[in-house]
Amino acid sequence: ALVVSSAITTFPAASSAQAAEDTPTWSREDASNFTLTDENTVPNIDSFTDVAPDYWVWDTWPLRERDGSLAKINGHYVQFALTASKEYTWGGRHDHAVIRYFYSKNGKDWEMGTVPYDEDKALGFRQWAGSAMIDEDDKIHLFYTAAGRKEEGPTFEQRLAKTTFEMDYDNKEGFQVTNNGEHQILAEADGVHYETQAQKTGDIIYSFRDPWFFQHPETGEEYLIFEGNTGGTDKSLNADNIGNVDGPIPDGAEDYNGNVGIAKAENEDLTEFELMPPLLEANGVNQQLERPHVVQKGDDFYLFTISHQFTFAPGLEGPDGLYGFHANSLFGDYQPMNGTGLVVANPEEDPFQAYSWAVLPHGQVISFVNEFHDENGDFQVGGSFAPTLKLKLKDDTSEIKGVMGEGEIHG
Ligand code: FRU
Repeated sequence: ALVVSSAITTFPAASSAQAAEDTPTWSREDASNFTLTDENTVPNIDSFTDVAPDYWVWDTWPLRERDGSLAKINGHYVQFALTASKEYTWGGRHDHAVIRYFYSKNGKDWEMGTVPYDEDKALGFRQWAGSAMIDEDDKIHLFYTAAGRKEEGPTFEQRLAKTTFEMDYDNKEGFQVTNNGEHQILAEADGVHYETQAQKTGDIIYSFRDPWFFQHPETGEEYLIFEGNTGGTDKSLNADNIGNVDGPIPDGAEDYNGNVGIAKAENEDLTEFELMPPLLEANGVNQQLERPHVVQKGDDFYLFTISHQFTFAPGLEGPDGLYGFHANSLFGDYQPMNGTGLVVANPEEDPFQAYSWAVLPHGQVISFVNEFHDENGDFQVGGSFAPTLKLKLKDDTSEIKGVMGEGEIHG
């Protein structure tokens, strides 16, 4: 339905689209008109309670059942999060990320546990975001991103990885992690659907990260949904990437080629996955479609992803926010929700207040406190759970309906 504007003439014709021709796009036209409204803007934060005073805490995900509902271990909710000691700087935390777990009986008051795996055996120089699922045998599958390699330091290579363990709680011993399994690589960028580090152009790191486990509610087939970039060396944009926009496309826009990837599980043990063509591409629009995940509600499939102001391609301006796309099936024709895709944004006064929103059952949206100004106007860094939002989803629209406690979740 998108019309090619005269702008396309500054690019070679569509002959060599970066990805499969029928991949739904988030186009420059879609991403041209973001507005902050009562429906998408979160209230101001001017203080927070630090859930782990000695650690920076950011990307967070709860332990879930295979069907995506929230799981409990002996009456406790569990959340996993990227963490780093406060010995490291706020900005330096990404280079030292390890996954720790938190647990809570009431879903509101969280205690920090340990790193649930042997850091020496974990893959990657550091471990980045993922997801966690507990199976019928009480085995926990912790999917994560192996970022860099131990022997190479904090380089930006990214691979999808997994380890397994069990968790137990009793009143005397508290939480225990047992039966730690191997760490395995599940998928690597193929250079066809998903860009390899070598194929990257432009200044922002490439992506092959943030595996999110998803079981299809009807077929039972299981997938990992992840953040990628469009593969191949030909970066030319096609008409669907652009849409109907005025004027020429700025040089360098083609270097911004984020996509939402998907890989299908080939075995029950979830150790073998086959890469499939992406669910969505944002070539010419945005470099990073981070932590993508799918929420299903009846016939509605919602694909959510987080993105940053600085990762929008030249000529486009969008907030750090949660973006959503709606389709009627998992591999459907995703269209941006609310017209542009914007679902949750920070308040104008503090555009970087929170980040890494994840939409959980019952429209609960978790995130972390990032950077804000307190009541005295002083700049503060966060590094802890942000207040949970209640999001209403209806057809292809969304509305923030309320705010819950910091890190609060209920099944
Ligand atoms: C989002 C993110 C993830 C990544 C992690 C690294 O906040 O960029 O994509 O896994 O942070 O710290």
